[in-house]
Amino acid sequence: MSGQDTYTGLGQYPSKYRKLALKSWLRLASIFLIIFGLGYLGITLFRPTSKVALVVDPRLESKFCDIPHPGRPLIQYVLMVDAGSTGSRIHVYKFNYCKDHAMLEDEIFQQIKPGLSSFDNDATGAAHSLDGLMEVAMKGVPESLRACTPIAVKATAGLRMLDQVKSDRILAAIRDRLTKDYPFKLIPKDAVEIMDGKDEGIYAWITVNYLLGSLGSPEHKTAATFDLGGGSTQIVFEPSFEIRDPVKGGPQLAAGEHRYEMAYGGQNYTLYQHSYLGFGLNEARKKVKQLIAQEASDSGRLSVEHPCFPPGFREEASTKDKKSEVTIKGVKKDSLTPATQEACYKEVRRILNKEAPCAVQPCSFNGVYQPPLDQTFAENPFYIFSYFYDRTYPLGVRDEFKLSDVKALMDKVCKHDVALFASKEQQEEVGAENHYCMDLSFQYALLRDGVGMAENRVVRSTRKIKDAETGWCLGASLLVLDQNRYCNSRH
Ligand SMILES: *[C@@H]1O[C@H](CO)[C@@H](O)[C@H](O)[C@H]1NC(C)=O
Repeated sequence: MSGQDTYTGLGQYPSKYRKLALKSWLRLASIFLIIFGLGYLGITLFRPTSKVALVVDPRLESKFCDIPHPGRPLIQYVLMVDAGSTGSRIHVYKFNYCKDHAMLEDEIFQQIKPGLSSFDNDATGAAHSLDGLMEVAMKGVPESLRACTPIAVKATAGLRMLDQVKSDRILAAIRDRLTKDYPFKLIPKDAVEIMDGKDEGIYAWITVNYLLGSLGSPEHKTAATFDLGGGSTQIVFEPSFEIRDPVKGGPQLAAGEHRYEMAYGGQNYTLYQHSYLGFGLNEARKKVKQLIAQEASDSGRLSVEHPCFPPGFREEASTKDKKSEVTIKGVKKDSLTPATQEACYKEVRRILNKEAPCAVQPCSFNGVYQPPLDQTFAENPFYIFSYFYDRTYPLGVRDEFKLSDVKALMDKVCKHDVALFASKEQQEEVGAENHYCMDLSFQYALLRDGVGMAENRVVRSTRKIKDAETGWCLGASLLVLDQNRYCNSRH
């Protein structure tokens, strides 16, 4: 390579003049680069808002709006701890105030075992058992909102069983730990308590009606909730009576335990609620078996074939008076007739104790007052949950159906012939549970003869509404927010 022919690698011309010109261009370019570079730096430094907005904590933002309703915070968290008998669960609810009322935006859920009651005398241990759940709360709620995030711990069945001295000590230890070691705000009233069974049903009713969008509006087109658990079954609805004359009065919900008055979203609600202890599905099974055993024993038999159960079933049951044991067997295939198919329902219906004295008229069953559905709750939606769902959904009776569909399903199952079911899944489902006929008979009796539902009444059965769980925790949290303000609009 000769000097003459030096290529700069940038220009195509091997000329000294070109080289010089290029050097000055480069110098000029560097100067420009430095000026623009400094300028860009200046812009980024002096426009902090736009840069910070890109890295803002999503926990502080709403997916639905940027600006909250006037006077409200954009985001409000609520922590609800459900201390059940087998374990404790935390729900970290994120609400937004894009509108004037709280809207559920997100939920974090975590559970731990065992339940508080298993700690017995060890109150401190019980309090510390919630640490894992509180860690979830600390992670879920941004630091700036923790002090204005309400928390409540509501214990259910398990702690109700423990004696009061022990359960009081456990509750006090939890209250103490939450106050001293965590930044959240205990709700002003009953922050750590054993919840009344009545409240549990009412809160679940709030959850359902909130998710349906029927709460807080003057029309009061609220849905009824009927939950069939293992130990008890609970009904809640808002009966409507004729418009009452302010002077003369008029029909209204009778006074008593069943009457629950509540304000929510600027509306007053007078609800009817009752929890039938001993009429959950498991308790009902026990009652029916005792009754079958008693009848057999009374007629001098030690064993009985019963149409409630499929061929091959066999179980020892003690009589109602606990004096003797009787073997209950499933019905034989060739002794099944249309009459025996009805027999299970007729037997099961007897445990409802329809003949019990009724102190305040009218009564549903077992002497319990209830405003008649056909007169005070004829039109609004009727939701049934838990075991009602578990026994109908797998067999194809789903979402929305009539009570007569439950009866049709009961009739089919009580023929004790799995071949009547079309799909293999359904055949396996029915085959795996000997109590299907009895359970469906009880459910039909409960709806028809118990609470007095008409055959053509439409019911809805579900686990979730708008993708949210239908338990009591959400309703309890909504009520917390309805009764007090926590985060203010600066947040
Ligand atoms: C609800 O009850 C309260 C107090 O009893 C009353 O002041 C208020 O006006 C009632 N609200 C409605 C919407 O009826």
